[in-house]
Amino acid sequence: MLEAMGSLAAALATALGPRTLLLGAVAFLFFADFLKRRRQKNYPPGPPRLPFVGNFFHLDFKQLHLSLQRVAKKYGNMIRLEMGQYSTVLITGLPLIKEAFVHQGQNFVNRPVMPIHERVFNKNGLIMSNGQIWKEQRRFALTTLKNFGLGRKSLEERIQNEAHFLIQAIGEENGQPFDPHFKINNAVSNIICSITFGERFDYQDDQFQELLRLLDEAMCLQTSVWCHLYNLFPRIMTYLPGQHQTLFSKWEKLKVFVARVIENHKRDWNPAEARDFIDAYLKEMEKHKGNATSSFQEENLISSTLDLFIAGTETTSTTLRWGLLYMALYPEIQEKVQAEIDRVLGQSQQLSMAARECMPYTNAVIHEVQRMGNIVPLNVPREVTVDTTLGGYHLPKGCMVLTNLTALHRDPAEWATPDTFNPEHFLEDGQFKKREAFLPFSVGKRNCLGEQLARTELFLFFTSLVQKFTFRPPNSEKLSLNFRMSLTLSPVSHCLCAVPRT
Ligand code: HEM
Ligand SMILES: *[C@@H]1O[C@H](CO)[C@@H](O)[C@H](O)[C@H]1NC(C)=O
Ligand SMILES: *[C@@H]1O[C@H](CO)[C@@H](O)[C@H](O)[C@H]1NC(C)=O
Repeated sequence: MLEAMGSLAAALATALGPRTLLLGAVAFLFFADFLKRRRQKNYPPGPPRLPFVGNFFHLDFKQLHLSLQRVAKKYGNMIRLEMGQYSTVLITGLPLIKEAFVHQGQNFVNRPVMPIHERVFNKNGLIMSNGQIWKEQRRFALTTLKNFGLGRKSLEERIQNEAHFLIQAIGEENGQPFDPHFKINNAVSNIICSITFGERFDYQDDQFQELLRLLDEAMCLQTSVWCHLYNLFPRIMTYLPGQHQTLFSKWEKLKVFVARVIENHKRDWNPAEARDFIDAYLKEMEKHKGNATSSFQEENLISSTLDLFIAGTETTSTTLRWGLLYMALYPEIQEKVQAEIDRVLGQSQQLSMAARECMPYTNAVIHEVQRMGNIVPLNVPREVTVDTTLGGYHLPKGCMVLTNLTALHRDPAEWATPDTFNPEHFLEDGQFKKREAFLPFSVGKRNCLGEQLARTELFLFFTSLVQKFTFRPPNSEKLSLNFRMSLTLSPVSHCLCAVPRT
C-alpha cells in the first residue's frame, strides 16, 4: 500500500512538478484539519484558529491573562481556544464556575497532563496527578497535615516561632531599605518544611537560599515560550536546546534535594514515632508493601513532598509580599490595622488565631490583599473527565478548563471599588463579612488543599509584622503595583523600609 502510494506520488511529481505537489499537500492538510474541527458540534465560540498551532499566536505568553482578556471581551462567558492539539475553554462568572466545580464537580476533577509535567512528574504527586493516584495522595496528605497540627495548637506555635525569627531578621535592617522577597519566602517555606521535612532552615543557610532561588526560577521558566513550545511539540523539542532544558535541570535538582532528605529520614526512621510528613509516608508505604497497584511508592513520596513544598512556599509568600506592599502604599489603612492590634493585644503580646475574632478590620485587610493580589488569575487548569454539557455548550472529554478568577475578584457588580484597595469590601457595620465572589483558593473537590494552613500563616505572619513595624516606601524609590508573571502574579522586585514601632 505504502509502496503503491510512493510510486503514485513519484508519478504525480513527474507530471505536476514538485512545487504544485507541495502546494497540494499543504491544501490537503488544511482541509483535513478543517474536517477534524467541524466534527465538534455545539462547542463554545472563540476566535478563528490557525491549523496545527491553533490560537498559539493570539497569546502573548509574558502576559497570558491580559491577552486572553481581549479575547474574552469579544466572545462571552465561555470561550474556546485551541492550542495545538489542546482544546481549552475559559469560563467566566460565579454561576458557571460553581456549576462546573461544585454541582458537576466529578466531571471537572482532573488536571490536564501537559508534556512538561509528564516529563518532570510522570503523572505522580498531588497537584498534577489524576484518578486513583490523586485520590490516594490527596486523602493521605489531608489527614497527615491535620495530624501535624493543622487546626491544632502545635502549628500555631510553629508559625509564631517563625514569625519571631522573621521579625528579628527584618529588625536587623534598622529601618533601611531592603528587598523583603527572600526573607519572607524563607520564613513561609519553613512552615511547610517543618511539617514535611521536620526542620526549618536558617535565613543564612546558603544551600536553602539556593533551593528557594531554584524554585523561584523554575516557576518563572515555566511560563516561557520554550515551555509552551515543548508542550506543543515535545518529541521535537526534546532534542533542541532552549530554556525548557534549563527548566528540566532545575526540577531535577529540586528532586535530588527532596530525595536526599528522604534518604536521611530512612536512616533514622522510627515507625513508632512519626516526626513529619515523610515519616508518616514511609509508614504508609510499609503498610502497602508488595501491593503493586497502590500509589504509595517512592516516586509518589518524592513528588507529593515536592508538591507540598512548591504549593506551600510560593503562593503564601507572594500574598504576604503583596500585603506589605499595600501597607506601604496605603499608610492610613496600615495605621488602622495597627490601632486594632494595639487595642486587642498591645504592642508586645503574642498574636494568636483566637485574636482574629476580635480583629475584623485586620481580617478584612488580609482578604482584600488576596482579592487585589489575585495571584492565580486563571486558577490551576482542570480537565473534563467525560463528555459534559455546561452553560448549554458541549465540552468534549479531555478538554482543558480555565476559570477567570480575575473576573470574579474585579466584578463591578460585586465590589464597590473593584480596582481600588478597599478593606470595606469585607466589612459590614464594623463586622467581618464573607463574600461569595471571593475564591482565591478555588472551590470543589479539587480546591486548594492548603487553604487552612495558608490562612493561618497569612494572619499570623502579616499581623505579627505590622504589630512590630511600620512599612514605608524608601525615599529613593517609587513603589508600584506592577506584577511579574510567573506561575503566580507577584510584585516586581522592590525595596521597603520596616521602621520599628517603639
Ligand atoms: C495564599 C496561598 C494560596 C493560594 C492563593 C492557593 C491557591 C490554590 C489554587 C487556586 C489551587 C487550585 C485549586 C483548583 O484547581 O480548584 C490550589 C491547589 C493546591 N494547593 Fe494551594 N494555595 C495557597 C496555599 C497553599 C499552601 C500553603 C499549600 C500547602 C499545603 C497548598 C497546597 C495546594 C495543593 C497540594 C494543591 C493541589 C490540590 C489538588 O490538585 O488536589 N496551597 N491552591
Ligand atoms: C492494593 O492497592 C489498591 C489501590 O490502592 C487497593 O485498591 C487494593 O485493595 C490493595 N490490595 C490489597 C491486597 O491491599
Ligand atoms: C476576566 O474578567 C475580567 C473582568 O470581567 C475581564 O475584564 C477579562 O476580560 C477576563 N479575563 C480573561 C482572561 O478572560
